[in-house]
Formats: sequence, C-alpha cells, structure tokens
Amino acid sequence: ANTSLNRDQKLLAICQLLSDSISYYNWVGFYFANHETKTLHLGPYVGAETDHTIIPFGKGICGQVAVSNNNFVVPDVSAQDNYIACSFTVKSEIVVPLFVNGENIGQIDIDSHVIDPFTEEDERFLEFVNQEIAKLY
Ligand code: SME
Repeated sequence: ANTSLNRDQKLLAICQLLSDSISYYNWVGFYFANHETKTLHLGPYVGAETDHTIIPFGKGICGQVAVSNNNFVVPDVSAQDNYIACSFTVKSEIVVPLFVNGENIGQIDIDSHVIDPFTEEDERFLEFVNQEIAKLY
C-alpha cells in the first residue's frame, strides 16, 4: 500500500507540529493564492475553525501579504485597521509568504493569544519552514 503522505497531509502535519511545539502559536494555517481571481484560499490548518476561507488580495493581514510579498508581523491586532478578526482570543499575528520558484503562491499564517510574541527569530524560522515546503512543489 502507498502509505506516504500527500502534500496537504504534510502541510497539516507541519501545522500540528508547530502548534504543539511553540506555546504562542495558537492557530497555524496556510492560505494559497489564486492569481486569476486575486483571492487567497484556506488550506490545511490547526486551531479554531474560521469563517475566512476566501480572502481577497489586499484585505486583512493575509491579503496585504499576497500583494506586498513581505513578512507581516502584527504585535497587537487591535492597532491594525486593515485586519480580519477571526476570534476575540487572537491578540497578535505573523504572516510569511511562501515562494516557489520566486512566485508568491501563498503564505503561512500564525495567530497568537498573547501580545507581541513574535521576534525576528520567528521570521527566520518560518522563512526556513516555507523554503522546505517549497521543495514539495
Ligand atoms: N487575521 C487574518 C485573517 C485570517 S485568520 O487569522 C485565520 C487577516 O487579517 O488577514
């Protein structure tokens, strides 16, 4: 039998590992870009269910990263005007784009229940995680 994991199963396992290992990673998921419709689509995730399965480019933290191609660290979500609230328990967020052959195909999105937990170490770590994920494509 073929017991190997498909890509979405691997991404889900990565979400699970990250949320289990790092106390302040309270929601971990992936969004993937559709460049024709200019929308992001929710992929594998671990954490509270979210209504935001489709996000237009430019909208919220995730939508802004789809356009900017840059990491976005939000120490305190209450200070953001272009922000999509998923849960009142979420206090901060980090989004790091996922590049495959130089193209921004999506992003890893992490929500935290504490204020200002994300450092440059998280950014470098999540960039590394995404570089490893890019090898699955
Ligand atoms: N807060 C995000 C929306 C996605 S949820 O965090 C899962 C945003 O502002 O783009």
